[in-house]
Amino acid sequence: MKWPESVTIKEVGPRDGLQNEKAWVKTEDKISWINQLSLTGLKHVEITSFVNPKWIPALADASDVVKGIQRVPGVVYTALVPNSRGLEKALEANVDEVAVFMSASQTHNRKNINKSIEDTFSVLEEVVQDALSAGKSVRGYISTVFGCPYEGLVSVENVVRISNTLFDMGIKEISLGDTIGVANPIQVQKVLEDLLRRFPAKKLAMHFHDTRGMALANILSSLDMGISTFDAAIGGLGGCPYAPGASGNVASDDLLYMLEGMGIQTGIDREKMHEAALFIQERLGKSLPSHTLQACGTDS
Ligand code: HMG
Ligand code: MG
Repeated sequence: MKWPESVTIKEVGPRDGLQNEKAWVKTEDKISWINQLSLTGLKHVEITSFVNPKWIPALADASDVVKGIQRVPGVVYTALVPNSRGLEKALEANVDEVAVFMSASQTHNRKNINKSIEDTFSVLEEVVQDALSAGKSVRGYISTVFGCPYEGLVSVENVVRISNTLFDMGIKEISLGDTIGVANPIQVQKVLEDLLRRFPAKKLAMHFHDTRGMALANILSSLDMGISTFDAAIGGLGGCPYAPGASGNVASDDLLYMLEGMGIQTGIDREKMHEAALFIQERLGKSLPSHTLQACGTDS
């Protein structure tokens, strides 16, 4: 196995993490937390989503969060956007980057965004064109790449077709989501073999949820395939409320521990990440799943 010299971690805790929490985190706490994350060395933070607040009440304060944070030069602040209505608000709040999303499986797509896969393309096409015209970069998520909670295994052909369509729209990077944490390292290798025949590794990122404890193993498998961008959520927060059984993302702090131990650069200060994890753990009033955080009594 050969490893890259450096890896990019994209922090999605403030969006993927908080969207799945029942507890309301106060806007000023979200802002303080994102400000802490901005000083860790992270270069990408997904800070909220401009979806219908009836669907995701925990992020109903998206505009106030984006407008309230102190932006650190060099950090890209991203927001998740489902449609033109969301984009309008995201542009008004002046995010740096927009992330659009859809699923590789029909049923999850409908449950999550109330549309068929075909009908989603025209909605996203408009969002992407308008975001690019406004000078924003656009990232795309494909969910349920490795399995769907409603349909089971998902054909890699669906993933290829959706990736082609999204790249044709002008999206610069696609993040492949294991939404319900069902992938294993061999499956990851096989799916990536197919995708990497068509798309360069630098245009792909991986987004592993850790529902079955497979996320770090799947990241190693992806690293071995030449992928070097990974989404992660501090403390192991995360989950999609419209995918039953979906729990936290790979914990950024665990990923950081592994990469640092392997001598792979991330540019992120592990101690500062630890402080930020403790902050949100305290605000949520419950212990978070990150192993590193749980081990902090003996090893931080
Ligand atoms: P819809 O009901 O089909 O929307 O929802 P609609 O266009 O028919 O409009 C219905 C109402 O929603 C209207 O309001 C619209 O104004 C309003 P009314 O007239 O009834 O008062 N509306 C909005 N309000 C605020 N912001 C908006 C917006 N759009 C419409 N942007 C919609 C469609 C997409 C809006 C809805 O299904 C939705 O919000 N879904 C979001 C679900 C979500 O956030 N899921 C979690 C994120 S995805 C994820 O976690 C996976 C990922 O992490 C990768 C992985 O792990 O695989 C990315
Ligand atoms: Mg996710």
